[in-house]
Amino acid sequence: MKATAKAHTNIALIKYWGKRDERLILPTNSSLSLTLDGFSTTTTVAFQEGLSEDQFMLDNQLVEGEAFRRVTKFLDLIRQLAGKEQLYAKVNSINDVPTAAGFASSASGFAALAAAGTKAIGLDLDDQALSRLTRQGSGSACRSIYGGFAEWEMGEQADGSDSFAVPIAPARHWDVRVAAVVLSSTMKKVSSRAGMKRTVETSPFYSGWIDSIPNDLKQIKEAIEGKDFEKAGSIAEANCLKMHATTLAANPPFTYWHDTTMRVMHAIQDMRADGIPAYFTIDAGPNVKVLYLPEDEARVKQRLSEISGVSGVILSKPGQGISYL
Ligand code: DP6
Repeated sequence: MKATAKAHTNIALIKYWGKRDERLILPTNSSLSLTLDGFSTTTTVAFQEGLSEDQFMLDNQLVEGEAFRRVTKFLDLIRQLAGKEQLYAKVNSINDVPTAAGFASSASGFAALAAAGTKAIGLDLDDQALSRLTRQGSGSACRSIYGGFAEWEMGEQADGSDSFAVPIAPARHWDVRVAAVVLSSTMKKVSSRAGMKRTVETSPFYSGWIDSIPNDLKQIKEAIEGKDFEKAGSIAEANCLKMHATTLAANPPFTYWHDTTMRVMHAIQDMRADGIPAYFTIDAGPNVKVLYLPEDEARVKQRLSEISGVSGVILSKPGQGISYL
């Protein structure tokens, strides 16, 4: 009745941006990501007779409110699958995702919770079923079941049965590096959930975003297979810019970018002009993630650290999928 699992965060190269069903978390487009080795969540779930509700500890602190409700709603799905609706759990999570790096811990968090929770209650799910379940905690988390490159296939069914991630290439296939650029100032955040909802509902650019996804996915999969870094990087960067363009046209309009965000973007374009292949991608926040090759690590780190408004650079490699401890 007790199990521990570890999952890593992932960075989307083709973004998930929009839901067609908010309750089941069904996306309006397929997406593709790289799981990273640096940033992880380790979660222990212990189901116990006699508890009258769940308990959730994050980094040894009791969690209440919205974050607790998301966890307990997700455990309800696991209880339903197992036919054990009255069995509550103690959940203990340790995050090794530095908040400052601007990675959402929800991807590693829900992937680890799904893996530990299903194992603890005695379910034996294959990766596909585990990814499908994880999706209902947080969409991007369904890709963290796998190491390396993974694609979340949006699916077509109204019940979500065909919406889950599949592996594209393992971490060992291609050593592409990712630098997380830490900004010294933060700003009030529109959550990814609220931001994508507003965009789907109001942005006239949204249909252009959707129309462009199939080709982006096809091209980036070819680039990954052929290890064509310039092709993969430029598609990822353009896809990120397109996603962020949809927010500028939303009503009310918004952007996740910060002055430092733009300085980092320009610095990366300057690096390319100087012959260093590096590309950026940005999620629902001001932080920038930089894709580069191992041989350029020292130069990329140095140039990023020199940008005004940057307080740190955290380097990461392709990482593994779910593991049980
Ligand atoms: C911009 O997975 O955090 O990072 O499904 O509502 O929990 P919910 O959203 P979430 O959204 C991630 C959006 C993104 C792009 C991506 O990771 O694909």
